[in-house]
Amino acid sequence: MIIAIDGPSASGKGTLSKRLAAHLGYAHLDTGKIYRAVGMAVLRAARDPANEGAAIAAARALDPATLRDPELTGEDAAIAASKVAAITAVRDVLLQFQRDFAARPPGDAGGAVLDGRDIGTVVCPYADVKLYVVASAEVRAERRHKELLERGEDSIYARVLQDMKDRDDRDSNRPIAPLKPAENAFTLDTSELDADQAVKVALSEIEKRGR
Ligand code: C5P
Repeated sequence: MIIAIDGPSASGKGTLSKRLAAHLGYAHLDTGKIYRAVGMAVLRAARDPANEGAAIAAARALDPATLRDPELTGEDAAIAASKVAAITAVRDVLLQFQRDFAARPPGDAGGAVLDGRDIGTVVCPYADVKLYVVASAEVRAERRHKELLERGEDSIYARVLQDMKDRDDRDSNRPIAPLKPAENAFTLDTSELDADQAVKVALSEIEKRGR
């Protein structure tokens, strides 16, 4: 059983994916972390994440153990991720890792939940269930702003909103694997839902489509 969850940043897809995986006993892969790890590796090598050679080398050298690095959750990693993610050869290198995870989830789990931008369209177009999670840019920026303040980081709402719009723009308008709903995806708008409500709606959709 493969569940593909796509959507823009702070749409609620990460929390939803984790909770669905825990509820169903499936393995979970946050594919954004992979791009963030590659972006961070390029930054740490003091190179530009938009530099193809540097980004491809970092993607080839990716160690899955680094996906737990707490620095990956920061905004620098997010911005670098969206730059390396726009490079075709980087995506090609990372594709097999994601497909292997879906086909053989770790721990012999009976299924996998993958979340990202292109899971339903490119990585697992054969997924049993595809969800496309959205929320308005203002609601998403508010969530991210709150999260940053709670972590004790400096944050200015207007700046967060602008960074989010820029990242949405890069993710949606890149020629390769742009952010968009798969044809048969179920769109779940979380603007007015809390995490419990979103899980409930998703589970009822999974019951209908996959289980
Ligand atoms: O989901 P997250 O915000 O961690 O993703 C960081 C960046 O990685 C995104 O803005 C996007 O550019 C890229 N990404 C991607 N494809 C995925 C997951 C993430 O291009 N499947």
